[in-house]
Amino acid sequence: MYSRPAARLIGTFARRSFTSQARNNGRQQYQWSRARWNYGSAAGTGVAAITLSGGIAFVLHASTAPQDKKLATPSKVDYNEVRKSVAALLDDANFDDGSYGPLFVRLGWHASGTYSHLDSTGGSNGGCMRFEPESGWGANKGLHLARERLEAVYRAHPGLTYADLYTLAAVVAIEEMGGPQIKWRPGRNDHKDGKKSPADGRLPDAAQGAQHIRDIFYRMGFNDQEIVALIGAHSLGRCHTDRSGYDGPWTFAPTTFSNEFFRLLLEEKWNLRRWNGPKQYEDTKTKTLMMLPADMALIEDPEFRKYVVVYAKDGDKFAKDFASAFEKLLELGIDFKTTDGSTHGKNESLWKRIFG
Ligand code: HEM
Repeated sequence: MYSRPAARLIGTFARRSFTSQARNNGRQQYQWSRARWNYGSAAGTGVAAITLSGGIAFVLHASTAPQDKKLATPSKVDYNEVRKSVAALLDDANFDDGSYGPLFVRLGWHASGTYSHLDSTGGSNGGCMRFEPESGWGANKGLHLARERLEAVYRAHPGLTYADLYTLAAVVAIEEMGGPQIKWRPGRNDHKDGKKSPADGRLPDAAQGAQHIRDIFYRMGFNDQEIVALIGAHSLGRCHTDRSGYDGPWTFAPTTFSNEFFRLLLEEKWNLRRWNGPKQYEDTKTKTLMMLPADMALIEDPEFRKYVVVYAKDGDKFAKDFASAFEKLLELGIDFKTTDGSTHGKNESLWKRIFG
């Protein structure tokens, strides 16, 4: 295990600013073209009706769901100060490997990973994980510790929303642990209860394999390359028997963002662990590292494996691709009205759904 300064040093290779790029592969495109076709026909019917009653401007206005009228006003909150407050909360010698960082990353991911492209439900908007039912989902076990830790930041910054805080905390944690800069925009609003949360079952099940992983992440709109990049976050943190039931870290430096997860996955020999717990793998050399069945699927499936090989060799490429995919994850389903006046997210995709 590395100390925080050492972790920073090891991790700085990845501290860059990166631009987003569209990526696709054949399988994803197939799924997408089917989904777009469905959207197209549904939206087409809507357009015909709405155009009759007042024109395209109304279409865009009407696309704003009622809850989006309460978008946070970015200018009222000093997000740089929020970032500093979050960064100051990361270290705690008595917590896990000395940092809340990995847990904050998991918080941002689980807050966002409920999104479905098929009906535009779920996603980080609303900050609903603080309410039942999401707070009680098995997949979210342990995340109350992150939410409780961040409560002081919420209180110190009037106007800040939980939905923005949960996602920004993940970004700050990644950057502070030596990861890439991730573009982050404010504007998520908070729902007043958990009624808009989707049904449980949208987050991945670690016991399952490639098909399940694709089902879950294609539903969010990711392709194979983005899926592999995102799961590379398992260079961070560990599993806890009192949360998921699994046990142990994936790498020797769980508070350092790196491509070690991929390198170890490929280069180490992994055996089933003999223990009184769920099926998981351990490295044969030290028996201190672990892999989930879902992690192993990344080397068993030939399409996923291709990207594991690339990222194991090229930490810079991993950091760059991770930053793009993570930015996308945190913005899924959000209707942004940014300070530069541009719109992004739901309106943009509605436009695409209507006009191709
Ligand atoms: C197939 C997809 C995935 C599965 C099955 C999965 C499963 C898990 C499980 C079982 C844990 C252990 C929880 C605990 O016991 O504390 C965990 C932890 C973690 N996951 Fe994932 N995960 C997936 C994808 C992701 C993604 C996409 C990210 C972020 C981009 C991520 C980030 C993390 C982090 C940082 C931790 C460590 C948390 C801590 O140290 O407390 N995971 N994951």
